[in-house]
Amino acid sequence: MSSSDHALVERFDPRQLPASFYDDPYPTYHALRRVAPVLRCPDGSYFLTRHADLDRVYRDPRSFSSDKQQQFRPMFGDSPLFEHHTTSLVFNDPPLHTWVRKAVGDALSPRAVSAMAPALDALIERLLAALPGSGAFDLVDDFASVIPVEVIGNLLRVPHAERGPLRGWSAAILGALEFGVTEAGKAAGNRAVEEFVDYLRGLIAARRAQPSADRDDVLSRLIQWESNGERLSEHQLYHQCIFLLNAGHETTTNLIGNAVHALLTTPGARESLLASPDLMDGAIEEFLRYDAPVQLGNRLSLAAVTLNGVEIPAGSTLTLCIGAANRDPAVFAEPDALKLDRHPNPQLAFGGGIHTCAGLHVARLEARTAIAGLFRRFPKLALAGEPSRAQRARFRGFTHLPVCAG
Ligand code: HEM
Repeated sequence: MSSSDHALVERFDPRQLPASFYDDPYPTYHALRRVAPVLRCPDGSYFLTRHADLDRVYRDPRSFSSDKQQQFRPMFGDSPLFEHHTTSLVFNDPPLHTWVRKAVGDALSPRAVSAMAPALDALIERLLAALPGSGAFDLVDDFASVIPVEVIGNLLRVPHAERGPLRGWSAAILGALEFGVTEAGKAAGNRAVEEFVDYLRGLIAARRAQPSADRDDVLSRLIQWESNGERLSEHQLYHQCIFLLNAGHETTTNLIGNAVHALLTTPGARESLLASPDLMDGAIEEFLRYDAPVQLGNRLSLAAVTLNGVEIPAGSTLTLCIGAANRDPAVFAEPDALKLDRHPNPQLAFGGGIHTCAGLHVARLEARTAIAGLFRRFPKLALAGEPSRAQRARFRGFTHLPVCAG
């Protein structure tokens, strides 16, 4: 523990992060874990950085709630953003969560996901064929961000011509969850929810009128899903669909972008993967650990609890720092090194417990197919300019990653 650790921790306020934090948050996370692994922040919330503490919180949904009514009411008031974020399954507790999770889980079953593979292969080949064989392109705009919109668009059978606004809606709705979101950011998020619901109203009405015979149409499955005589309400359907599109979009884009950047900037990594393609599955887990696309999550303590010697009162907001837990030296040897063959790799990028990411098979399939295809087409891929990072603490990724065939 050094004096610079203490200085970093004293200055740390998740609501007022310096620009340098977004470039590289990991020195701050290490300092927090060493000095104050359960830190009380200026706003009274607690910031957790140890793997063991995150694991404990994830596995105890009775003590640590995902319900966000209390947290979001003062942030969003009575607004479309409040309605959306407090309806989606990720921000609800059992029994509602259990019930909706079953519907969504069924729709994203391994069978449904494996049926996606041929369309995904064709999409990646099409995107790669359109990229310039010489000269620069943007890995995010021209490749990584296109894939999840198409994949989830296909899952819900959104017509191709209507997919244009999806990426912008998703960014605006998720952007409103960042610390220190501005009034303009909230207004954009509210507009995006309204436009998205308007769009889904038409899509769902058309699907009800003409249900798809295709078993892999997730929207028809959600519409028809029934358990103990109950179905998802119209309102539930809108918000779970919006959540599916959002949950799978920026996250997967970030995974592909962060992975490619790590491969291009870690000496020998790209060469190892090219020489041993069977490293790919383990490599995806390592990309998820090394630079997790979702860095922060939240829970509400329902009773007083002591974590790591710190007493946390009931009703406190906890921020679970996945980015820090994934680099905890108590669990990962040489945590700041990218090791494609790391094993075991209990990374927490998909969270844990009852809310573990329902789309993790989809995300892994997309990342595997995209990264393998990219390096097959461009084995000498290289950076072609300064990458720019989104200035976001919760979702970590690049807005632009200029690359060239090399
Ligand atoms: C690399 C990509 C992804 C990452 C890193 C990621 C990460 C996460 C995390 C951390 C959670 C848990 C949040 C919490 O408990 O606080 C979560 C939940 C969820 N994710 Fe993902 N996700 C990814 C891709 C996807 C995709 C592609 C889909 C859908 C096709 C998806 C659907 C969901 C759903 C439905 C939940 C809520 C589960 C529940 O509350 O039971 N995710 N995700």
